Amino acid sequence: MMYDLIVIGAGPAGYLASERAAHAGLNVLCIEKANVGGVCLNEGCIPTKTLLYSAKLHDGVAHGEKYGVKTENLTIDHNVVLARKNKVVKLLTCGIKSSLKTLGVTVVTGDARIIDKTDEEVRVSVGEDTFAAKNLLIATGSSPAIPPIPGLSDGLNAGFVLTNKEILALSEVPESLVVIGGGVIGLEMASYFNSVGSKVTIIEMLDHIAGENDKELTTILQKNYEKKGIKFILGARVSDIGASSVSYIVNDESHTVDCDKVLLSIGRRANTANLGLEDIGIETNRGAIITDEHMRTNVVNVYAAGDVNGKSMLAHTAYREAEVAVNTMLGISDEMSYVAVPGVIYTNPELASVGITEANAEAQKLNYKVVKLPMRFSGRYLAENEGGDGIFKLIVDAENNRVIGAHALCNYSSEFIVAIGTAIEAKLTLEQIKKIIFPHPTVCEIFREAIFQCE
Ligand code: NAI
Repeated sequence: MMYDLIVIGAGPAGYLASERAAHAGLNVLCIEKANVGGVCLNEGCIPTKTLLYSAKLHDGVAHGEKYGVKTENLTIDHNVVLARKNKVVKLLTCGIKSSLKTLGVTVVTGDARIIDKTDEEVRVSVGEDTFAAKNLLIATGSSPAIPPIPGLSDGLNAGFVLTNKEILALSEVPESLVVIGGGVIGLEMASYFNSVGSKVTIIEMLDHIAGENDKELTTILQKNYEKKGIKFILGARVSDIGASSVSYIVNDESHTVDCDKVLLSIGRRANTANLGLEDIGIETNRGAIITDEHMRTNVVNVYAAGDVNGKSMLAHTAYREAEVAVNTMLGISDEMSYVAVPGVIYTNPELASVGITEANAEAQKLNYKVVKLPMRFSGRYLAENEGGDGIFKLIVDAENNRVIGAHALCNYSSEFIVAIGTAIEAKLTLEQIKKIIFPHPTVCEIFREAIFQCE
């Protein structure tokens, strides 16, 4: 049978592309070797948010006295948290399976490999079976980067070193946890295990945590977590992993820390090995598939969306890239814009950002203005954050009075950052934003306040 579209991978890019294409009337085959929902639903975004919500409830009550809430013998049961996480994952993955079925998408379980390509069709094998389609979308996602650190493979094999997948299934809370990499995964998991009682140490190669985020905000976040008991070792190179320890070098001095478990979270790599890309000449760059703004590869009718193209390894970018790829196949004019991709680290408080940072604006020698406000300018924030030290920063292009970036350290920022992303994407001017009515009281009003202070 000849399909209109074969999708390899059923993560956010793959399942959404399958849904959109089938909805538009295409005959779609989706091939997945593991679980529908991909990393996001099974071992990433959704399970971590389930865990972090329990931790947030626990921490809120633990520090409830200043709000008049007192409790004794407060506990958090990790196994109840895990069971609920599994239930949430199951509900969502079942929902996607059912939606694909309703839309008439054929789902095949197995390892796909591209066989060949002619002007008319591309052929893909799964075991003994061969499938053909006019279009191919590669949405195979990414896997944890595994650097050549001595002792790391042994540690992974022994279950001493974990990646994002294994740590989410850990049935016992480790007494001590070393996190290698102070990026998104490292900080979110450190936050959870700190709340459930582990002694957490983060070892980060750079001199700051949270990658490209605004340094002033990440420094405050780090201080918040230091107060909660997390130890940060920055500017450190991990030199060796032993049977129950991690060795690292800081300022030419070697140190060793003993621990029960290690989380490796130093970034991810596109899944492109053994797919047969080279057999039809698909170009890659450092393992990631090269795509244009329509998500086309260099091979006609072959597209790539999501982590596999290495542009922005985020589920929400994957969704939009999937839509652009499907629209392009359908002949509908559409292209990707990466200027307003929001980023969120779901720590407590959350750190959300969109657009460029002050440092980016400086490096690009832009004519820009910055408005920095303490979050207590928001009545709702003040009501809910006794002693909170959150900050909001707005970056505005002084040439045309348009917002080009925003950075917020406060809870709910994951929910309201899209408002600022909308202003950036729609190129709204300050005058246009001033006419928009915000609900009161909301934490998002900090954005409106910053707009009016931007003179
Ligand atoms: P990441 O790129 O966010 O952070 C990796 C960190 O490890 C960086 O700070 C880097 O400097 C550090 N590092 C690299 N090599 C190191 C070494 N040898 N020793 C010590 N530190 C080292 O990567 P992460 O946290 O693994 O996340 C992977 C991907 O998953 C990211 O693209 C992220 O955006 C995505 N993700 C997104 C989430 C969200 O949107 N909330 C949640 C979880 C993951």
